[in-house]
Amino acid sequence: MSNVHEQPGKAAVDPYRPAYHFSPPTGWLNDPNGLIYWRGEYHLFYQHYPDGPEHGPMHWGHAVSSDLVHWRHLPIALMPDATDKPGDRSGIFSGSAVDDDGMLTVMYTLFTDTETHPDRRQEVQCIATSADGIHFEKYEDNPVIVDPPAGAEHGWRDPKVWRDEDGSWKMVIGAGDGTRGKALLYRSRDLREWEFVGAAAEDGRDDRSRMWECPDLFPLDDTYVLVASVNEPEFQGVLAFTGPFDGERMQLETEGLVDFGPDFYAPQTFVDGDGRRILIAWMDRWGAERPTTAYGWSGIMTVPRQLFLFEDGHVGARPVPELKALREATPLVTLGDGVEPGRIAEGNSLEIEATFDVNRAEGPFGMTLFSSPTGEGGMRITYAPASRKLIVDRDGEGLIGDGGRYEHEIDKTEGDLVLHIFVDHSSVELFVNGGRATASFRVYPETATYNNVALVADGSGVPVKQLDVWRLKQI
Ligand code: FRU
Repeated sequence: MSNVHEQPGKAAVDPYRPAYHFSPPTGWLNDPNGLIYWRGEYHLFYQHYPDGPEHGPMHWGHAVSSDLVHWRHLPIALMPDATDKPGDRSGIFSGSAVDDDGMLTVMYTLFTDTETHPDRRQEVQCIATSADGIHFEKYEDNPVIVDPPAGAEHGWRDPKVWRDEDGSWKMVIGAGDGTRGKALLYRSRDLREWEFVGAAAEDGRDDRSRMWECPDLFPLDDTYVLVASVNEPEFQGVLAFTGPFDGERMQLETEGLVDFGPDFYAPQTFVDGDGRRILIAWMDRWGAERPTTAYGWSGIMTVPRQLFLFEDGHVGARPVPELKALREATPLVTLGDGVEPGRIAEGNSLEIEATFDVNRAEGPFGMTLFSSPTGEGGMRITYAPASRKLIVDRDGEGLIGDGGRYEHEIDKTEGDLVLHIFVDHSSVELFVNGGRATASFRVYPETATYNNVALVADGSGVPVKQLDVWRLKQI
């Protein structure tokens, strides 16, 4: 058994680099920024520190794609201002992009390290423009918003701009007063002069978010959705609310989690040329163990997901169909009825589509990923029909990094449970029942032998109706 971490003297083999998820060329990656479909290409900017696998003075990394699947790295788009102070952590925090009459215009939070510059404000809002979508110029009269309003004492960052129905630019900024997260709404005619409108929404609870990070407010079919990220000791996750928005204030009628896995944070959405609302998130979280740092990098993005509404108003997310281009010509495995537990496939760059007949189950059933050649250990995904719970367990042998057990009640199973899974070296993305629930996980196999998919079931057989596994190509 070769331990991939112990190969002294050998060229570093990086077992955790994804084959088809976006990762930084080197160094650190967190939030997606400035997502936009511009002049026929998808632009992905991201929070980036190129000089090491940890959060540092933030830059905006940049990549483009013509199909949302294959990405080409471009030069860093935004860098921190030059500093002569050692250890200065000032940099370019999260923000968004719009097309302003042909100019690709980004709005971001300029973060100032106030330990190094005690006389300056920690967070102000700025813009930068580009005529070619590659080279950016910071606006000479930055910052465009200098002071936060009252009620934003605990944070004021991550502007998300859009062109509203009434023709004006609107923007939400994540904020909080230390008790409740808020999405603060601003309005502008020219992206340079901004008027503060008020809080578009705030957390209805005072026990889970001192501030909201990376808020995103957008129409979806006949309603509005507000997404907000929360990173607190008591609660880490991404909330999604739906309800009407009158141009100034949103009523929060429903509330849920965008994704029930631990490694999903700071998503951003945008509309592409076909009018699809697409979401990409950082597939990681603050405070996680990151075994990739041994290889000089950290952080990956989720696959792009298309958002939609179910008939009952629930926000769904499914992988964009373009991802099918990654599949090898024929499935690696195809199974029908009557399957026994045990290993069915080997690989670490896979897509699995599995339909189970819940009515035939005699007890919990499901599969293990990144398990041993005999199907032991690894990450276990099972569905318990009695409690209607999907349980994902990362505490199995053969995995390093964070463990943990995650449960989610599946509210709609009309006889079938459909699991659509993307496996990629150090990650598992799970779509349940056509996007009714999603869950994202980083998973770090300890050795190269933990790379198997096995079916598991209590009782006689695994209630598989149809199961296909594809190997996915490298981008
Ligand atoms: C969210 C976040 C943002 C901030 C950025 C800094 O993950 O904390 O609020 O702009 O990351 O890198």
